[in-house]
Amino acid sequence: MADHPVKTANIKVWRGGEGGADGHYQEYQVPWEEGETVLGALQHVYEQQDASLALRYGCRYKVCGLCGMRIAGEDRLACTVHLKDGMEIEPMQHLPLIRDLVIDRRPQMEELKSLSLRADPDQETDMVAWKQTEAAGHYYNCFDCVECLCCHSMCEKADNGHSGAFTLVKLAQMHHHPRNAHDRVGQARDAGLEDCVDCRKCHCPYGVKIQQNVIGEFLRAAGME
Ligand code: SF4
Ligand code: SF4
Ligand code: FES
Repeated sequence: MADHPVKTANIKVWRGGEGGADGHYQEYQVPWEEGETVLGALQHVYEQQDASLALRYGCRYKVCGLCGMRIAGEDRLACTVHLKDGMEIEPMQHLPLIRDLVIDRRPQMEELKSLSLRADPDQETDMVAWKQTEAAGHYYNCFDCVECLCCHSMCEKADNGHSGAFTLVKLAQMHHHPRNAHDRVGQARDAGLEDCVDCRKCHCPYGVKIQQNVIGEFLRAAGME
């Protein structure tokens, strides 16, 4: 990478307080280099221009799932998206807003606690045989989830009593688990699965086949597809 930026990019960043109070877009000019990410640009803003900007991140490499935001209209991890001139950067949707680009993850995580997402360690299972099954492939795919909540942000039903795509992904992890001991299809129904029948809009930018291994699987198991 060059020592000096070769050009600059203008970005528009949503700023505002709890619940969207005083919401507005603020423009920043940031250095642009080959390979620069949106997260890198926002870090530059925070460190060099405006320390009042609130953002959340951890690993900077698609592991921690903490830097989710809406970038040019798409819900993504900011550390995975290359910076482009003119990008609009907003907080994720359908989640409580703390400030600027930081949403409150606690309601989603609290909901998971109520779903008994644990396997039964005493259940007899032939693991060698299980690993050859289709369910095993689905299980491993669902565990590619880095808990970024991007799919939840895509779910327009999530403001209306529906738990959202992320909760369904977590239920599907257990549904496909070889030692699952709960009715995950019933829990998916309670989470709002019926809303998915005519929707099917969410997807995972990070490899989880949500429509196939989560929504489609639950709809088929519930006899709704
Ligand atoms: S399924 Fe994908 S989009 Fe949804 S939380 Fe997991 S990694 Fe993020
Ligand atoms: S398919 Fe279901 S979880 Fe996905 S966006 Fe639609 S209502 Fe939400
Ligand atoms: S900073 Fe960890 S996933 Fe982006």
